[in-house]
Amino acid sequence: MAERIKVTVGVAGGIAAYKAVEVVRQLQDAGFDPHVVMTEAAEKFVQPLTFAAITGHKVISSLWSEDAGASGGEVSGIEHINEAQTTAALVVVPATADILAKFAHGLADDFLTTMYLASNAPVVVAPAMNVVMWQHPATQANLEILRKRGVTIVEPNSGYLACGMVGGGRLAEESAVVAAVAEVLASTTAGERSDLEGQTILITAGGTREPIDPVRFIGNRSSGKMGYALAAKARCRGARVILISAPTALPAPEGCELVPVTTAEEMRTAALARLREASIVIMAAAVSDYRVTEAATQKLKREGPRVLQLEPTADILQEITHERRPETMVVGFAAETENVLTNGRAKLARKGVDALVVNDVSGSETGFDSDRNAGWFLTPEDTKEFAVSSKAAMADRILDEVVRLRSTHGRAVTGRR
Ligand code: CTP
Repeated sequence: MAERIKVTVGVAGGIAAYKAVEVVRQLQDAGFDPHVVMTEAAEKFVQPLTFAAITGHKVISSLWSEDAGASGGEVSGIEHINEAQTTAALVVVPATADILAKFAHGLADDFLTTMYLASNAPVVVAPAMNVVMWQHPATQANLEILRKRGVTIVEPNSGYLACGMVGGGRLAEESAVVAAVAEVLASTTAGERSDLEGQTILITAGGTREPIDPVRFIGNRSSGKMGYALAAKARCRGARVILISAPTALPAPEGCELVPVTTAEEMRTAALARLREASIVIMAAAVSDYRVTEAATQKLKREGPRVLQLEPTADILQEITHERRPETMVVGFAAETENVLTNGRAKLARKGVDALVVNDVSGSETGFDSDRNAGWFLTPEDTKEFAVSSKAAMADRILDEVVRLRSTHGRAVTGRR
């Protein structure tokens, strides 16, 4: 088994400290090896033993070892340096107003604050505090200092706080904290990767629009965020990227060749025209399955009930799998609302693709227009689950699988050879 990545969880003294237990557990589920550092105040809320039992590691809270000063006892003043240099990331949950202030101004009066200064590892903080403290200019100024310094801030939610007030300052969902850690680490390692160098990746993104008349269209809820995240990540990893995009509100990812389209037919024409250049195709677009048979040339007036006649659009993905060069790998997407895995497997076979990313779009936390996503990466041989993460982190995981498939199967696993 691959060695798990060590992550240090700093627990500060706030009422939300108990939630750090769940964060630690979820970090383990995500494949990390969490070690816990507590402030003295945090120990008033949660017993160190709880964390020690879950992680299997000693919990550190003091700059001084327990037997310091005893016969031969050694001061463990060096331990924070060791912890700081061996960890891949420091995540503080909950980050109290006091910890944010100390981090921002470089105060180092306990293990956690000293370790922060002694570490070059990426830092994630998940603030939680009373809403007035959260909104206080001092706290906001400290956050700004940390943000400028590159610290990732997992914004708190609004909601009922322990003090009975409603407002910002409530710790973000535990899964959001874990996703932020995964993302920070993915981007740190992705920066060093160039495993897509030499590849040309054609990506489709966004939701197509089929005109009804000059001002109205049939569209869908796709935001394009997943396709754009894939394009940006593929570019970072060294690929040449052709991004065929239906309308979105997103800025063009840097370094990608953007081909703007509107309708399914325009997307089809553009995709087929550029197909021969591609070694990998990823179809993340939500393509309309129908278009209006005869769109009106003038704006339709309100005149009682109206029936729109629709006709099917071409299935671009299926055409691509037929037209591709034998060595071109094709990955499709599927948005499902029920029987997600069964429908996904059937679609994988029907479309003749090498792999299919399946999303459950029935919930609000992930999928359309959300910044987060989850799903499965299906190949004829394998099912890999992606836990909830940011779309950027999920893009990296999809590309990891694409790279793995390429290296284990040459080009592809299904379709024509
Ligand atoms: N797709 C496509 N052309 C279409 C419809 C879909 O290329 N006209 C692609 C999408 O980009 C995606 C995959 O096919 O990669 C699956 O899209 P989805 O809408 O889930 O599947 P459909 O084939 O439309 O099946 P259904 O709507 O019946 O579930």
